[in-house]
Amino acid sequence: MKLGQNVIALSALLLPGALAWGTTNLVKDDTTAFFQRILQNDTEHYLAGVATWADSIRYTKWGRFSKNFHFIDAKDTPPTYCGVDFERDCKEDGCVVSSIQNYTSQLLDTKLWPSRRNQAAKFVIHFVGDIHQPLHVENVAYGGNGIHVKWESSELNLHHVWDTSIAEKMLGGIHRKPYVAGFAWAANLTYQIKSGKYEAASKFWNDGLSFNDPIQTAMGWANESNAIVCTHVLPEGPEAIIGQELAGDYYEKAAPVIELQVAKAGYRLAAWLDLIADKASGTAESVGEL
Ligand SMILES: *[C@@H]1O[C@H](CO)[C@@H](O)[C@H](O)[C@H]1NC(C)=O
Ligand SMILES: *[C@@H]1O[C@H](CO)[C@@H](O)[C@H](O)[C@H]1NC(C)=O
Ligand SMILES: *[C@@H]1O[C@H](CO)[C@@H](O)[C@H](O)[C@H]1NC(C)=O
Ligand SMILES: *[C@@H]1O[C@H](CO)[C@@H](O)[C@H](O)[C@H]1NC(C)=O
Repeated sequence: MKLGQNVIALSALLLPGALAWGTTNLVKDDTTAFFQRILQNDTEHYLAGVATWADSIRYTKWGRFSKNFHFIDAKDTPPTYCGVDFERDCKEDGCVVSSIQNYTSQLLDTKLWPSRRNQAAKFVIHFVGDIHQPLHVENVAYGGNGIHVKWESSELNLHHVWDTSIAEKMLGGIHRKPYVAGFAWAANLTYQIKSGKYEAASKFWNDGLSFNDPIQTAMGWANESNAIVCTHVLPEGPEAIIGQELAGDYYEKAAPVIELQVAKAGYRLAAWLDLIADKASGTAESVGEL
């Protein structure tokens, strides 16, 4: 959307990076091998290194076709009514929900050139992150890009606050390199999922996941993100938030929500990539061909 249209701020690496590192920690060994092969990178950076690729191409001439794939514009009226509807809200040329399906199926299509499957992998990894961001599942003011707010006294738009500023502040400001901060954050979240505060809850995070129905699965994720728009993003509506300072009380309420969304996204992406790798290994030549 508007911010970052020409350049991706370094800090835009933080959320996608943390998510990718979290996933790296959670996938099965066979899945690692499969995606290292598809992405042609046999280091531990194979996911984190491509997590923002989709953002880096969306405003280029070549990549323009993908600009609408990062979101779905839920035409609801927060805070009184939240809700996302595939028929109503997914644009004719695609949205984040249809794109997760589209690129999952391309990843598994052994007739496609390896370069196409490589791109499909990079899109899936990025879009599972985007769909967990509340303002990527909201129509109001272009997903909050058109709402000006204050953040530690400087002026920002609401979309940027949710994509970047809240996570940055949680991790102690912008002093650390985002790639490194994302790595440390993911290690913490992985610990919380395996044996910490998310251990019990995470057992239910993949309820409703159906590999045979990517649209329904992704709509479940979208619905959950969109509900946050009513509870935490615009709890008093779009007019009331204009010009407000959000780095105080608003931030305190938003931070745990962002953390939970990043944890869920990493966990769900790991499960999704495991299913893709399982399915691909059923067709023996698919890996061998690359
Ligand atoms: C793997 O990815 C990392 C991170 O993007 C990059 O620095 C490294 O050069 C890549 N390695 C190969 C073999 O492509
Ligand atoms: C599916 O992906 C292809 C290749 O990137 C793209 O050209 C096409 O527009 C996508 N279709 C939909 C409905 O998103
Ligand atoms: C994880 O982060 C929390 C704060 O969110 C902190 O209290 C905790 O000590 C960290 N745990 C580890 C293992 O780093
Ligand atoms: C959508 O989210 C709301 C609020 O979290 C929940 O009550 C509802 O059951 C969800 N609907 C679907 C179809 O997932």
